[in-house]
Amino acid sequence: MSIPVSLNMNLRGIGQSATLAINERSKALRREGRKIYGLGLGQSPFPIPQSVVDSLKMHAHEKDYLHVQGLPALRTAVAEFHIKKDLADIHPDQVLIGPGSKELMFLLQLVFYGEIILPSPSWVSYHPQAHILGRPVRFIHTSFEDKWRLTADMLERHCAADNDNTKPRLIILNYPSNPDGGSYTADELEAIGFIARKNNIILLSDEIYGQLHFEGEHVSVSRYYPEGTIISSGLSKWCGAGGWRLGTFSFPPQLSWLREAMAAAASETYTSVSAPIQYAAIRAFKCGINIERYLWRVRKILKALATDTVRILQDGGVRVHMPDGAFYLFIDCTPFAEKLHARNIHNSMDMCEALLQETGVAILPGAAFNRPANEFTARLATVNFDGAKALAKCETIPLDTPLPDSFTKTYCKETLDACKRIVKWLHD
Ligand SMILES: Cc1ncc(COP(=O)(O)O)c(C=O)c1O
Repeated sequence: MSIPVSLNMNLRGIGQSATLAINERSKALRREGRKIYGLGLGQSPFPIPQSVVDSLKMHAHEKDYLHVQGLPALRTAVAEFHIKKDLADIHPDQVLIGPGSKELMFLLQLVFYGEIILPSPSWVSYHPQAHILGRPVRFIHTSFEDKWRLTADMLERHCAADNDNTKPRLIILNYPSNPDGGSYTADELEAIGFIARKNNIILLSDEIYGQLHFEGEHVSVSRYYPEGTIISSGLSKWCGAGGWRLGTFSFPPQLSWLREAMAAAASETYTSVSAPIQYAAIRAFKCGINIERYLWRVRKILKALATDTVRILQDGGVRVHMPDGAFYLFIDCTPFAEKLHARNIHNSMDMCEALLQETGVAILPGAAFNRPANEFTARLATVNFDGAKALAKCETIPLDTPLPDSFTKTYCKETLDACKRIVKWLHD
C-alpha cells in the first residue's frame, strides 16, 4: 500500500524558514571543520534577568491549565507595563497571552478575514503565515533612501491606488525593525496612524524590540490611533527569553471581536501558555529598578556594537543606516553590483551563499525579507557574542559612563571581524 501525498495546497512550496535554513547550512560547514561567523540568527545573547529566573524556579510546581486568555495577574502586569512605559492605555481584560507573539500573529491572520498589507522589507514570518492561511498580501516597497521606513504618504498612495478601498485590511508595522533596526519618530507614527484611521485599516504594531530602542525612547503608534491598534510584544527580545515562548497582544476595546475570536481559536489549539512561564513573566513585566538597569546596559552594549559595525561597513563602501534599536543591520551592496555580476552573483541569495562559502560569514538574503530578488540586500544579526560576559563587564562601568572604545573589540570581536570579512570579500 502506498499512502498518497495529500498536502494542504497552501503549504505546497513552503520550505523551512530562511533563518533555520542558513543555520542548518552553517552547522553542516562547521561539521566540516570550517570557522563560521553566525550572523544569521537573531536571538538575544543576554541572560534572562536573575529575578525572572528565580521566579520561574519558585513556580515550577504550577501545573494547572490556565485561562486561555492568560493568567489574570499577568494580564494586569502587561497592561500596567504598557501604561507605565507610556505606550498605551490598556485594560487587563484586553490582553491576550500566547505561546510567543509569532503564534498570536498567526491566530490573528487566521481569524481576520481580509487583506494583509506589509511594508517591505518586513520580518520573515508575516508573509509565510498569510500564505499558509490563504490571505492576500500587498507589499509597499520602501527603499534605502527612505531608511526602509513606511511613510504616511506611501500608505496614502497605496490606499488611493486600491480599487476597493472598503475591504477589510490589516497592516503590520514593526519598529524598531527586524531586519534594519530602524524606528519611527512620534510625528511619523502620528501621520501613519492618521492615514490608517482615515482608511479604516487595522494596525498590528509589532513592538517586540520596543524596549531595545537604544535611547529608551520607544513610542507606540497606539498613542495616535488607539482604537485601531493592536500592540504585539513579549519576553523574547528585551528579556532574553525567546525559548520560553511567551508573547502578548494588547487590544483596544473596539477590537474585542478579534481578541475573542483569537481566544476561541486558542482554546481549540494550544489551550494556554505554560503555567510556570506565565507566573515568571509577571516578575518580568512588573519591571522595577534592577530590570530597568539591565535594560539600560543591554541597550548601551547594542548601541556601541551597532555604531562600530556600521562604521566598518560604511567605511568599506557598504550602504547601511545606523539603527535606532534591536540587533540587526540591513546592508545594501548595490555599489558592488558590477563586481558581483562579474562573479556570476545576480541576487541576494547567491550573494549570501557565496559569502558563506568563501568567508564563513552567515547572513540572511534580503529576499527572505520580501525584497526584490535581484537586489543585493541582506540582514546581519550582530548578536553572536557572549552576552553574559559583555553584560558582566558592563555592570562594572557606571551607567552614565560611556563604554570604552575597547569594549566591542574585546567582547564582540567576532561580530566586528565578520563585518571586516564582508567588506574585504566585496572588494576582492
Ligand atoms: C519582528 C519580530 N516579530 C515577532 C517575532 C516573534 O517573537 P516571539 O514569537 O518569540 O514572541 C520575532 C522573532 O524573531 C521578530 O523578529
